[in-house]
Amino acid sequence: MSLTCLETLGVNTLKQGDIFYSVLTGNTLALGKGAEFSAYSPIDGAKLSQFNNATPEQLETVSAELKEAFKVLRTIPAPRRGELVRRIGEEARKYKEELAQVISLEAGKIVPEALGEVQEWIDVCDFAVGQSRMLHGLSIVSERPGHRMMEQWQPLGPVAVITAFNFPMAVWAWNTMLGLVCGDPVLLKPSEKAPLCALAMYQIAQNVLADMPDIPKAVVSVMIGDRDLGEAIAANDTFPLVSATGSTTMGRAVATTVAGRLGRSLLELGGNNAMIVSPTADLDLALRAIVFSAAGTAGQRCTTLRRLITHESIVDGLVERLAKSYGSLRVGNPLEDGTLVGPLVDDGSFSRMQAALVTAKKQGGEVVCGGERVTEGVPAGGFYVRPAIVRIAHDALIVHEETFAPILYVLTYRNFDEAIDIQNEVPQGLSSAVFTESLREAEMFMSPEGSDCGIANVNIGTSGAEIGGAFGGEKETGGGRESGSDAWRNYMRRTTNTINYGGDLPLAQGIVFE
Ligand code: UN1
Repeated sequence: MSLTCLETLGVNTLKQGDIFYSVLTGNTLALGKGAEFSAYSPIDGAKLSQFNNATPEQLETVSAELKEAFKVLRTIPAPRRGELVRRIGEEARKYKEELAQVISLEAGKIVPEALGEVQEWIDVCDFAVGQSRMLHGLSIVSERPGHRMMEQWQPLGPVAVITAFNFPMAVWAWNTMLGLVCGDPVLLKPSEKAPLCALAMYQIAQNVLADMPDIPKAVVSVMIGDRDLGEAIAANDTFPLVSATGSTTMGRAVATTVAGRLGRSLLELGGNNAMIVSPTADLDLALRAIVFSAAGTAGQRCTTLRRLITHESIVDGLVERLAKSYGSLRVGNPLEDGTLVGPLVDDGSFSRMQAALVTAKKQGGEVVCGGERVTEGVPAGGFYVRPAIVRIAHDALIVHEETFAPILYVLTYRNFDEAIDIQNEVPQGLSSAVFTESLREAEMFMSPEGSDCGIANVNIGTSGAEIGGAFGGEKETGGGRESGSDAWRNYMRRTTNTINYGGDLPLAQGIVFE
């Protein structure tokens, strides 16, 4: 496996011998002091990198450095912090292809989707640069004569970001680009499956910081480690905010620890996303949306379509068309032109997919197509599968779980209210969609009685959200909102200021105290 993309990015300076540094804070590059681990490519199982975990003890040094960096960053005018982000965005543009290649190597994404992920990074830079001149508070009238009130948004402090393998760059960028303009240094703990992506992002940021000596280099920091490091980060009150993306189990552990010290967490956890297909739907459009949302990224997006809630009058025809379309999906090496479905991330993911299919059958499901491992025409050592379609009852227990693999459960409904009930009956609440030409159904779906998810789309799929909207979901998805809209407020603290410009001291609520 060739890592020339990393060399082009200058990442070869971030290793010692064959072992990469685990602690990267700008001033400090250090080898991890914990257990050794290696990361392998999902493409062919080849070893890509070797690290030693950074330890909780090493976090003590890093957190001290981040606190110092915060003291400086919070005093730098926000538009200047925006300038840092603008330049990071320009570097990401310049090295878009190399960065995408690192994503493909570590996460197994097909090149167009890996490029799309880098594009999310670039887009959120543009967004954050604009935001750096719009960190507005309110001006509020006072009930007291000679007084006025206002709100200001202040930098919050060092922010920790824990990410998953499947969006190793975009999710870091959503948090970091906004965190930086808000005045917060950001420490990343990447997925152990995607440490080289973290090195590449770090290198891009440090290339820019080298030309901006007024900004401490530690404002973009990385520590590569395991669960122990994640727990230590969650417990460390250096970080007023911990933003975590991944499984619900991981999120629950992080959130509980952070809550124990009354810190804030920003969670983006499991999804179990559904699409309702009405008898009025434009089925040609729906078909394309379903295939991308359900089989794209080999079913490994948190927004992947997992439940297709189809009106009983159209289900047979739709499943037939879908199965045909699935049959022509090219499964293979994600680096090759024309591949649409790359590998699963590892053998564990493959086993979980197989187990879910066995369970689905036991619970009355019928596998319409797919699910089997592909071994011909794909690199040996990778876990390639044909995306599966399973017809099953909406209340089969397996349908309520998120299996991070390309399994699409097809369910049926009779009337629209029932469809919405089915849509909302799972514990997760990230993304949802309806395909309909009926204005009533579309509006109902987006109304208070409609989808209970953070994302509710009409006539587009569940995945592939733009960065301009707030991204995240409800219930077990964790309630966080990242990326666009007013998500920047997560990274700031609000002060309410009351100013007396009169010569008297009237008390609020008319209280007399003399
Ligand atoms: C994720 O899978 O963690 O909406 C994020 C999407 C992407 C982001 C997915 N923009 O599918």
